[in-house]
Amino acid sequence: MKTVLITGASSGIGKAFAELFAKKNYRIVLASRNEEKLSGIARQLRDNYAVSTILIPVDLAQSDGPILLHGQLMEMGIAIDVLVNNAGFGSFGLLHEQDVRSELEMLQLNVHSLSHLMMLFLPAMVSRGSGSILNVGSTTSFYACPLSANYSASKAFVLSLTEAVSNELQGTGVIVTALCPGATGTEFFRSAKMDGQKVSDPKTLMSPETVAEIGYKALMSKKTIVVPGFQNWLLTQAPRFFPRRFVTRITRSVLEQKL
Ligand SMILES: NC(=O)c1ccc[n+]([C@@H]2O[C@H](COP(=O)([O-])OP(=O)(O)OC[C@H]3O[C@@H](n4cnc5c(N)ncnc54)[C@H](OP(=O)(O)O)[C@@H]3O)[C@@H](O)[C@H]2O)c1
Repeated sequence: MKTVLITGASSGIGKAFAELFAKKNYRIVLASRNEEKLSGIARQLRDNYAVSTILIPVDLAQSDGPILLHGQLMEMGIAIDVLVNNAGFGSFGLLHEQDVRSELEMLQLNVHSLSHLMMLFLPAMVSRGSGSILNVGSTTSFYACPLSANYSASKAFVLSLTEAVSNELQGTGVIVTALCPGATGTEFFRSAKMDGQKVSDPKTLMSPETVAEIGYKALMSKKTIVVPGFQNWLLTQAPRFFPRRFVTRITRSVLEQKL
């Protein structure tokens, strides 16, 4: 039986991934901070799909989070076949008005932990000659996003890291894919204090289940990058056809209407 580790599995896209991998009969390791939510999801997965589940409550915005997570799995003797590096959050507003501590936690989670987890799990995958990692980026991985500067920069890191490592891993049997969704109907906007605004209008959002399905298919077909939805894909192509400064200005004015 194959085992998938999903970070940020307590909600949104991570939760959708948990259900998807359960349907494919994987053993599911669910990691995030909220133990109660994880237990509820694990129970549902066991009841609906008769899969084996393991919960690891962990704060990945702390620098020792990835080591604790990896260490617990090592102690249990569990090898990870698929890592879904999904935990993350965003923030909106002018950088100089942001809460410094919260921004640094975001960078720790979206950047440091994501890369740290890759570095912890990749060696075993490479020596086994098989394994897959799916890193969750964003459409903002492709362009600078004023009013969400640290977040968009963190997601640019995810894309750049994935492309580089994917190239390094050629011929090893290990796959790395960046899933770069646009606006998706999850807790993301509430966490980023954007609830009730235009951006979280359910009609404009993709469902987390659709996003997870597209990510899963891309990973299984060994794609390096996937952007769910044609409109989102078009958005990511803008910097190829327009001057970067122009794209940055447009991005800001779009976001300003939503803040
Ligand atoms: N929704 C969108 O529009 C959108 C668009 C592009 C990219 N994304 C990306 O998609 C990924 C998933 O987000 P989502 O949309 O599904 O949002 P979500 O519903 O808010 O889920 C975020 C997940 O991350 C976990 N998490 C947050 N802080 C954590 C921490 N310190 N340690 C461990 N886990 C933590 C949360 O669990 P706990 O609270 O239990 O810790 C939750 O399970 C993120 O990387 C996000 O940047 C989202």
